[in-house]
Amino acid sequence: MQVVHTLAEYDAFRSSLSKGCVLVPTMGALHEGHASLVRQGAAYARKHSLDGCVVTLFVNPTQFGDPADFSRYPKTLDADCRLCEQAGAACLFAPGVEDVYPPGHTIPVPTLPLVATEPKLEDALRPGHFAGVCQVVSRLFDITRPKAAVFGEKDWQQLVVVRAMAQAQGRELEILPGPTVRDADGMAMSSRNRFLSSHDRAAGLSLSRALRAAQTKTTPDQAEAAMLAELSTQGLTPDYAIVRNASTLSPLRDAGQVGPWRAVLAARVGSVRLLDNAPWHPA
Ligand code: PAF
Repeated sequence: MQVVHTLAEYDAFRSSLSKGCVLVPTMGALHEGHASLVRQGAAYARKHSLDGCVVTLFVNPTQFGDPADFSRYPKTLDADCRLCEQAGAACLFAPGVEDVYPPGHTIPVPTLPLVATEPKLEDALRPGHFAGVCQVVSRLFDITRPKAAVFGEKDWQQLVVVRAMAQAQGRELEILPGPTVRDADGMAMSSRNRFLSSHDRAAGLSLSRALRAAQTKTTPDQAEAAMLAELSTQGLTPDYAIVRNASTLSPLRDAGQVGPWRAVLAARVGSVRLLDNAPWHPA
């Protein structure tokens, strides 16, 4: 696996590719969830006779609303290199901010798709977040020119935002959803889980339990009530715990609306915001 840090080095690497790559964009602090995205990207590359899987590692300042969250974002480059290599990446590209946002150049924020502004989920709770995500992902697509890119399902709204953006931009690349990887206790893996105390982690397990409770219900209203009830057993009041259309994230106007649906939820536990989601259909 090649490890490159500058745009010039990446361009040299890219000129060695003849068939194109699969991109896995990350912010580092990688865990088994990322390893599974890299394995998925590498497998797709093999299946489609592409050159391999490229992992980018860049903690993008423009998508953080909270400067403290940005500055405490964990940095574990050596371990990240090992994980990418073991998962079968061809290249780890960890650019500096001056490569992604060159001084004197304006990197445009793409027109945001409706799913980045209308659902009133992460878009409302983290103003500016999807503008930053779309800006950096679009920039990384321009630099790496992938044939496909893998995004984890754990950040469901991000996945559907990026897919809608890429489609609106007319990019010829496939957006591949990467299934959420969970710890044995059901907790969805996240780089920020390391900040949970053992007490907060126990409370945080109620998110995955809430999703399982929702699966047993026959209407979205019942599913939402079940999620709230499960979270409240741990004293959690979620930012949202709701069933939506899976691709537009628009509210369900009636229970007869054609799916697929997604149960999505987010809650602050201690100093960490936890997100989780799962497919939902009437039991
Ligand atoms: O999901 C993430 O880690 C980030 O939002 C992404 C897609 C790498 C963009 O910075």
